[in-house]
Amino acid sequence: MTHVFTIAIDGPAGAGKGTLARRLADHYRLNLLDTGLTYRAVAHALLRLGLPLDNVSAAETAARQVDLAKLDRSVLSAHAVGEAASKVAVFPSVRRVLVEKQREFAKAPPGAVLDGRDIGTVVCPDADIKLYVTASAEVRAERRDERDMGRADSPLKPAADAHLLDTSEMAIEAAFLAARAIIDDVLAKRNKA
Ligand code: C5P
Repeated sequence: MTHVFTIAIDGPAGAGKGTLARRLADHYRLNLLDTGLTYRAVAHALLRLGLPLDNVSAAETAARQVDLAKLDRSVLSAHAVGEAASKVAVFPSVRRVLVEKQREFAKAPPGAVLDGRDIGTVVCPDADIKLYVTASAEVRAERRDERDMGRADSPLKPAADAHLLDTSEMAIEAAFLAARAIIDDVLAKRNKA
């Protein structure tokens, strides 16, 4: 059986997770999923239909219709869509549907880098590597994080076995090198075992 390799990256908005995830996926030749886009797609569907963001059944329907192959970053990257995403992301039924799709994605060989808020804690608790990326509040300046950290279902927090990476003082290249050092160390220990 071929081992499917998983790198989980979590952290608040604006800490540099997305760029780091892309660099790592390129370097280790893994698939890449920005799970934030899945929550954004649900929010965007409700906004487009003019439905309130607390319409749970409409949000759940929109979640079922999310196609991971068709997530359009240019449409979904708007700041307002991100804000709306954090409102639909509090609903357990929405999360259940999206998490199922994310797990399916992670299972495909040769494996994947997934970034989000609950990858190491909920989506892929058995990930080979878990990184929790933080940056100082001044660097991030995102109010949405409080909603993500305070919600009852799958709040943003580091998994017990996550490696913490503070990118406040780091350029992306330094963060990439630091993450690679952590990953290569885990791989080397595993090869020795
Ligand atoms: O990362 P991004 O800014 O695209 O995420 C938008 C929102 O989606 C987050 O603020 C969060 O509420 C939600 N989200 C989540 N779980 C994830 C990824 C994103 O709850 N794994």
